[in-house]
Amino acid sequence: MKNKKDIKLLISGKKKLSGIVNISGSKNLALPIIISSILTDNDIIIKNIPLINDIYIIIDLLKFMGSNIYFDKSTCYINNKYINNLDIKNYKHINETRASILLLGPTISKFNRISTSFPGGCNIGDRPIDLHINNIKKFGVNIYINNNIINAFSNGKLIGNYINIEKISFGATLNIIFASILAKGKTIIKNISLEPEIFEVIKFLNKLGSKIKVYIKERIIIVEGVIKLKGGIFKISSDRIEIGTFMVSSIVSKGDITCNNINNISNIKNIISKLSKTGANLIIKKNSIRVIMNYRSKSISIKTSPYPGFPTDMQPQICLLNSISIGNSIIIENIFNNRLNHIYELIKMGAKFYIKKNIIYCLGVNNLNGSILNAKDLRGSATLIIAGCIANDNTLINNAYHLYRGYENFENKLNIIGADIKRIY
Ligand code: UD1
Repeated sequence: MKNKKDIKLLISGKKKLSGIVNISGSKNLALPIIISSILTDNDIIIKNIPLINDIYIIIDLLKFMGSNIYFDKSTCYINNKYINNLDIKNYKHINETRASILLLGPTISKFNRISTSFPGGCNIGDRPIDLHINNIKKFGVNIYINNNIINAFSNGKLIGNYINIEKISFGATLNIIFASILAKGKTIIKNISLEPEIFEVIKFLNKLGSKIKVYIKERIIIVEGVIKLKGGIFKISSDRIEIGTFMVSSIVSKGDITCNNINNISNIKNIISKLSKTGANLIIKKNSIRVIMNYRSKSISIKTSPYPGFPTDMQPQICLLNSISIGNSIIIENIFNNRLNHIYELIKMGAKFYIKKNIIYCLGVNNLNGSILNAKDLRGSATLIIAGCIANDNTLINNAYHLYRGYENFENKLNIIGADIKRIY
């Protein structure tokens, strides 16, 4: 295979997407669960792991550190007893995923040291790590940053503390929890993120013997440090953003898609309530959602905000939906300051957007036209692929490799329900 960055997708347009899609496990849950397993020497089994590049990188990175970790289908078997390499700054893929920053908390807590590098991830604006660094320091950890290298060490056990996270952050909440599990004494964490994946991670860690209590209304977590953790088995719940992406695919293609294999419908109320305003018929059962659309959709206005607000990871897909819907709409992106790449590509297809800072105004058009597009981030890639499926003529998407970081088998899942997407190397 040539350089993986050369992957292009050729997509035939005017497709109605109809059929059944089996939803995979959540990327943003599987990554922290695998990483937090570092906190125990005992055997861990994790089921329903999505087969995506971000996961392959983290698994390879743990191997690089000395972990005994392997995959069989979508189950991951881990034993971290022999981790001995805490110098990962030169690991070849360290800058390719945002999740690598989540190693800071568990490694410093368990091994009292780590030498790592700044994380990567999607190019969606500034992605500072100050909330991770400054709050982990509060456990008595010394952290020095030089030329994008992070050196952290502590003289013995971390010490529990009172931590008020200055801004709601999914990643920082996790890192601080990880640091507190084996710390001496009590840690009080205020202003936590309420993403469902945080509670799943807590469920997993408590199953292993940690002592974490959550006070949801107050946005507070209290952790009593423990000496060590046990092993255990855990199943990753469904990927909320994958569900939302296929729901939008059904609406924009005037299709009929059923998302199966869902075990957390109550966690996507925010997506369901917005998409129900498009005019689509949503049939919601315990483990599935069917989205039937027979007409041109109505546009919806959203503003992204931390959970339970509307997820920023669905903003690109809603831009596509609005681009071909009836009426004007406004999208306000409140989480990331430059999550706009997909909009310039949709404009090449004939969409009408006007952007003022973080506010995206859209005037729906009847159709999009096939074009040559450049994918620049994960959710944007999925959005452009669906746009290609419904446009007039063919669409060619360059740099499609971003997609494989976070969606399992996306092209095949779409091809099974009526798309015509070919990979070109
Ligand atoms: C996580 C997800 C990512 C998703 C994002 C928003 C993982 C590995 N990544 O990213 O897929 O798009 O949530 O749902 O699960 N911030 C700071 N300083 C920090 C950290 C964050 O200022 O140290 C800011 C960010 O720039 C952003 C906001 O806080 O404006 C929220 O970011 P955060 O919730 O931390 O997102 P990530 O954990 O990076």
